[in-house]
Amino acid sequence: MPDLLVPLYKLPPRPDEAALRAQGVILRRANTFELTRVSQFIGTHFSQSWADETAAAFARQPVTCFLTLVDRQIAGFGAYEATRRAFFGPTGVDPAHRGRGLGTALLLASLWGLYDLGYAYGIIGAAGPVEFYRKTVGAVVIPDSTPGVYADLLKPADAQR
Ligand SMILES: CC(C)(COP(=O)(O)OP(=O)(O)OC[C@H]1O[C@@H](n2cnc3c(N)ncnc32)[C@H](O)[C@@H]1OP(=O)(O)O)[C@@H](O)C(=O)NCCC(=O)NCCS
Repeated sequence: MPDLLVPLYKLPPRPDEAALRAQGVILRRANTFELTRVSQFIGTHFSQSWADETAAAFARQPVTCFLTLVDRQIAGFGAYEATRRAFFGPTGVDPAHRGRGLGTALLLASLWGLYDLGYAYGIIGAAGPVEFYRKTVGAVVIPDSTPGVYADLLKPADAQR
């Protein structure tokens, strides 16, 4: 999976938090004391390695991880400055809440976070849904970026010996 480049100087507008709230969705930064809850959410719906990657965002001030909440439960997360500097990700939305704009809201909040740190470009590492990123923020594939920073990975812990 390739890395993608996103020009941050022409991002769509910041997410409309009030409009999301009117639909019952709260978009906000994670709090440091929510690390365990966020890790459990990621471990349940995605993977332990994504939970570990996201934990780096909790060592920053402000925390570089946004959450979407529905009924005061985590419905999605998006981290930045976690994998590497200027990187967005990991991110994911609970399958039960997909297709409602939560993924876009998390993406935009995080990319604006990178912009506010002074970056001109953001990087989406090992992007799965390339079309989602192209459509929402004009991301383009970085040539020859596979495996990029993900070279020489450990064998999965549950792999056959
Ligand atoms: C990718 C993901 C975060 C999108 O979340 P979401 O809340 O469903 O996204 P949105 O509702 O904001 O979708 C916005 C648009 O992108 C489209 N889209 C969503 N997921 C897509 C995908 N995987 N591929 C292509 N288009 C996608 C939607 O159809 C929607 O289009 P529309 O505006 O024309 O209706 C979610 O599908 C997910 O958690 N996937 C699994 C984890 C993952 O792949 N993370 C990214 C790793 S790089």
